[in-house]
Amino acid sequence: MKIIGLNWKLNPQTEQEALEIATLSDWKNAIIFPPAIFLRQIVTQTKRAKVGAQNVYWQNSGAFTGEISPLMARDEGASFALVGHSERRRYFFETDQLIHKKIKAILSAGLGAVLCVGELKDVHQRGLPFVKRFLFSQLKKDLDDVTVPKTSRLIVAYEPIWAIGSGVPDDPNASAEIAQFLKNTLLSRFNISNPAILYGGSVNSGNIREFLKHPEIDGVLIGGASVEKRELKKIAKMAPYVREVDVVGKNRKDGRFTKS
Ligand code: PGA
Repeated sequence: MKIIGLNWKLNPQTEQEALEIATLSDWKNAIIFPPAIFLRQIVTQTKRAKVGAQNVYWQNSGAFTGEISPLMARDEGASFALVGHSERRRYFFETDQLIHKKIKAILSAGLGAVLCVGELKDVHQRGLPFVKRFLFSQLKKDLDDVTVPKTSRLIVAYEPIWAIGSGVPDDPNASAEIAQFLKNTLLSRFNISNPAILYGGSVNSGNIREFLKHPEIDGVLIGGASVEKRELKKIAKMAPYVREVDVVGKNRKDGRFTKS
C-alpha cells in the first residue's frame, strides 16, 4: 500500500479550482487535505479519495474563535487530520504540548491522525544519528501515552523542514532509513502497531518514484506539486506503486463518516 497525501495548504483560491484539482484523477489511494472551507465539496465530488482536515483544535466545542473541531471535520466527511506540520509549528507557534492534545482529540473523534515530524537544517547537517535522536524526542513529546484505537489510524509524515518548499528533497536512501527507524520506534517504544510512514518535502513527479520504491516508505506527502495540474496528472499516473488506502474510517459521498 502506498499513500499519496496531497497537502494543499492555503490553495487554491476558489472552490471551483479546488474541485477541478480534486477531480483530475479518480484517486483511490490519496488523502486530500484541502482548506477546511472546501472540505464537504471535495468529499462530495470525489469518488475514492479520502479527505482530511489540515488542522483541527483539540477541544470539541467552546469559546475558541476561528477554530474547527475534530468532530466538525468528521461531520463534514473528513477521515483524517494533519497535525504537527512545521508550518503550524513555525507560523502559529504550535508546541509539542498542543500537538499532543490535538493527536488525542483527533484519534478519539475517530479520525486518523497524520503527524508531521522533521528536523531543521542544522540538525540534518550533523548526520543521521542526530536526526534520529531529534525525531525520537519529538515523538516522545507528541505521542506520550497516546493509544491508537482499533477504529483509527496513526500515520507519521517525515518532513525534513529544510526540504519543504525548497526544491531540494532529502536523499531517498536516507529517508528510507529514517522511515524504518520511525517504524521500529513507534512499535517498540510507543506500542503503536502498523504505523505508516510518509516522506514529505519537495516531492514532485520527477522524484516520487525514488521515494516510493523503498519498501520502508509507505507513501508521500506532497505540498507545492499537489496544486499544480500538470504535476498532479503525472503523479496520478504512477499507479504501479499504489494500492487502496488501508483505513478503517471511510468518508461517504453525503459527507457522513462511516466505519467500513
Ligand atoms: P512541499 O511541501 O511538497 O511543497 O515541499 C510538503 C509539505 O509541506 O507537506
